[in-house]
Amino acid sequence: MPKFSKNKKGKEKKNSVREKKENLLFQSPKGMHDILPSEQPWWDKLRKVSQEVANFYNFWRIDTPILESAEIFERGTGITTDIVEKQMFFLKSKGKDRLALRPENTPGIIRAYIQHGLSRLSQPLKLYYFGPFFRYEQPQAGRYRQFYQIGFEILGGEDDSIYDAQIILANYRLIEELKIKNVVVQINSLGCKNCRTIYRRKLQDYYRKFSNKICKDCRRRLSVNPLRLLDCKNEKCREIRSRAPIMLDYLCQACRSHFRSVLEYLDDLNVPYTLDSYLVRGLDYYNRTVFEILAEKYDVSLGGGGRYDYLGEMLGVRRTSLPAVGSSLGAERLIEAMKIQGVSEPTKITAKVFLVQIGKPAKKMALCLIEAFRSAGIKVIESLGKDSLKSQLKLADKEGVELALILGQREVFEESIIIRDMKSGAQETVPMSKVVEEVKKRIH
Ligand code: HAM
Repeated sequence: MPKFSKNKKGKEKKNSVREKKENLLFQSPKGMHDILPSEQPWWDKLRKVSQEVANFYNFWRIDTPILESAEIFERGTGITTDIVEKQMFFLKSKGKDRLALRPENTPGIIRAYIQHGLSRLSQPLKLYYFGPFFRYEQPQAGRYRQFYQIGFEILGGEDDSIYDAQIILANYRLIEELKIKNVVVQINSLGCKNCRTIYRRKLQDYYRKFSNKICKDCRRRLSVNPLRLLDCKNEKCREIRSRAPIMLDYLCQACRSHFRSVLEYLDDLNVPYTLDSYLVRGLDYYNRTVFEILAEKYDVSLGGGGRYDYLGEMLGVRRTSLPAVGSSLGAERLIEAMKIQGVSEPTKITAKVFLVQIGKPAKKMALCLIEAFRSAGIKVIESLGKDSLKSQLKLADKEGVELALILGQREVFEESIIIRDMKSGAQETVPMSKVVEEVKKRIH
């Protein structure tokens, strides 16, 4: 009986929450979230750390439009990828342009690089971004329809493996700075046009023997994009995959030595990694190094990336290959991983001083006084709409400030102000002209 009543109560509560939600006239679109003030300290921390890491490794910030021509994703990300096939949001507009909300940034970065002649700058060019992306997904933890990515891209110059290592390092250091522990990089090589063609054929030969056992999606992809079969989550396909040929056995000499040297750099840097022969990543433009980053207690990858030397050609904006390597981390996932691993909430910048004003002349003076503190770099909080001393002191107490400044009619007349130590309750009147100086002496 008690169990029943508990369940009933729980059900009632759930229903009432649902009813309340249904009664709301508007809600944020499915899978898209408001980032409320209470969450902002996590985001501030993420932005700050990203910027610091980018600055340190000499990545320049770039912001590209949220809308791009749909064609750059079809040609670049790949027409048979889930992202393009199932997850793009298209924009209905009056013009002839077929625009899409960007599901990722790599093709857009190449577009901007070519459009603005960025190859004229010293190469390679290192770029970074922090912005929103959109994919039509079934929302669940770590998977949203609007999400933020922090990206690092190195374009132009040489296709040196040291840049692959540097991209992985920048990601690793960023995650480390966020205090996310037990992070591992899963890494693989997808070879170049030459060796991959041979591997593709081997893979097709192998899977054709199981064409009546693999899932419908895999059967369809077998002729157009056989590498994607290695990605399939279907249990039967996974079992068949366990005996499939692996790319590493087919790498040509140049790709083999490129990959080996990426791993050697990671060894030297003590960046932990594991080889994953089935890692192909769901985007078409990768060659040679591909990687994903995982953390303990968190099921989905924090980020991923790889080399994409052929993307310029695929987009039809370059006749020869444009050496490039890059990565993106999911901002929501980093925050979720921090929370799951018990990283303490980043501290907000709290004020140490509260200004209490009583009466009209005091209120009038309050705004100018706050400006004097602003010039001195001291944050002051107030509740200018309130009039009573008691309610303002109560608020000051709630905010946990060290000092309250009390400005009443008498103080305005005498050009003075009361400084109250919130801990001891001791009060002292000081000349108004000296208040900033006196506060500076008292705050810790
Ligand atoms: P991606 O693996 O598709 O790669 O996405 C990178 C990261 O973005 C994921 O690991 C994840 O953290 C986050 N992410 C992706 N989809 C969602 C989602 N629906 N909800 C929440 N987070 C998500 C790329 O986007 C490539 N552009 C990476 C790259 C840059 N390669 C070279 N340069």
